[in-house]
Amino acid sequence: MKLLAGNSNKNLSQKISRFLKTRLVNSKIKKFADGEIYVEINENIRGNNIFIIQSISSPANDNLLEMLICIDALKRSSAKNITAVIPYFGYARQDRKVVPRTSISAKLVSNLITKAGADRVVTVDLHAGQIQGFFDIPVDNLFTTPIFYRHIKKRLKLNNLVCVSPDAGGINRTRGLSKILDVGLAIVDKRRPAPGKSEVMNIIGNVKNKVCIIVDDIIDSGGTIVNAAKMLKSKGAKEIHVYITHGVLSGDAVKRIKNSPIKNLVITDTIDNSKKINGAKNIEILSISNLLGEALKRISNSTSVSDLFK
Ligand code: R5P
Repeated sequence: MKLLAGNSNKNLSQKISRFLKTRLVNSKIKKFADGEIYVEINENIRGNNIFIIQSISSPANDNLLEMLICIDALKRSSAKNITAVIPYFGYARQDRKVVPRTSISAKLVSNLITKAGADRVVTVDLHAGQIQGFFDIPVDNLFTTPIFYRHIKKRLKLNNLVCVSPDAGGINRTRGLSKILDVGLAIVDKRRPAPGKSEVMNIIGNVKNKVCIIVDDIIDSGGTIVNAAKMLKSKGAKEIHVYITHGVLSGDAVKRIKNSPIKNLVITDTIDNSKKINGAKNIEILSISNLLGEALKRISNSTSVSDLFK
């Protein structure tokens, strides 16, 4: 078993490597003056099982291409088996044609990863579970629910909690957490008048005097969550805590969250935000390195990954 780190999230790769007590493969990934990416593997990997760790986070196009070129380099270096470990699977939100004459980029990206030579994909909280079916190779989709569950149990009293889905698409995810916490469920009726813009129409369920836990897979501009938090407050919510796997945090998102009624936003390190959130007192990062490391160990030893979530 060998680990190769792409440039998107070196901190997470190093944590996984420490967990597995396996050093990262000696490699050189650089750019030519015109922006073309160059990858060189500087040690023998013939016959090895290789895990390349790379999130398709901003700059998404560079990070995606870097991963594809790494996979190609590994394949041409006679690696026995290549697993693309993609903590944040970018382009996943374009998983169907919402209006005519658009691309289904999630499918295109899946094709590119397979065509480049990956034998397996490991990812975390895919935007839509059915993206697994875009691949004809095995996909292990890991869940952050156990990490969030432990954090909530440690920090909050369960007797006054309600889990809130910020839109209809997130109901299953939110129901999963509300079920294991054994608390109620509320839903935000969100509309998207245009891509990147969100409007909250109403709240379905009782949130008055409740401590609300909003759960989502992605926070991008922060519009969805901040609008939901404001509406929850206007409906009498006592406190708002937010748990989101992927902190995309584009543009003014951090500022928007800092100035919002959100008491605490918890994200994971599928995307490296260590510099971006500097100084935001209501944003906390939990590491998924041990979960990913344990999953990679199990894949390498051919033992069950789903047992991790029982
Ligand atoms: C949408 O379906 C996703 O689950 C997120 O709710 C969305 O991507 C968040 O975007 P933003 O923070 O820009 O509102």
